[in-house]
Amino acid sequence: MAPALGHPRLHLRRTDSTNERARRLAEAGAPHGALVTAGEQTAGRGRQGRTWTAPPGRALLLSLVLRVEDPALIPLQAGVAVAETVGDAARIKWPNDVLVEGRKVAGILVEGRPREGWAVLGIGLNVAVRPEDFPPALREAAGTLDRAPEDLDPTLHHLLDTLERWVDADQEAVIAAWRERDALEGQPVAWSEGSGKAVGIDDAGRLLVGTSSGTIALEAGEVHLRRLGA
Ligand code: BTN
Repeated sequence: MAPALGHPRLHLRRTDSTNERARRLAEAGAPHGALVTAGEQTAGRGRQGRTWTAPPGRALLLSLVLRVEDPALIPLQAGVAVAETVGDAARIKWPNDVLVEGRKVAGILVEGRPREGWAVLGIGLNVAVRPEDFPPALREAAGTLDRAPEDLDPTLHHLLDTLERWVDADQEAVIAAWRERDALEGQPVAWSEGSGKAVGIDDAGRLLVGTSSGTIALEAGEVHLRRLGA
């Protein structure tokens, strides 16, 4: 069994990006489970070149160095673990945005060098962000657990325990748990090259979309997904 996640831990009051710090540690040989957390990020990275912002001291901003056999599963394992930490109301919008009542409370960014045997799992979770902290343009789409700043550390420990279980879980169990929280099933979706209705994920974690020319499978790396309608 792999050693516990979260050791060693580097906490920074302020940094550019915890993923960047963790990447440098991984390149320097940091072990599986090494954790970087920050109170504030000045250059937080999101998926597909986007940025990730959060008010200081109100969100979990963390990155873990993972040395696992199958890094392709990490995005789904992380989605399930974050959703489980958030609670029964959490749903996962493919590939791994965690939503509560349709609003995104957590984002996950996996970066790494599979051939060198490591990946960095970055998670931003809006634990104690106040709704008014979100810029007006994000207020419809962004969500928060609306807890107190004192809840950050207990939430981190809960998340690390939950992640530890899911990082050790096999593909079948991960896919089954992911499917139970699928936010898109039955919903109309669109991406740069088409549109259709989401019908679930396949056993490799690809999004299945029913279109007028049949069911197609989308890979997370390639697709900017938009949800159509409400
Ligand atoms: C997304 O676009 O949904 C993914 C957002 C991931 C943000 C987290 S915050 C901690 C870690 N450090 C980063 O620079 N990004 C990730």
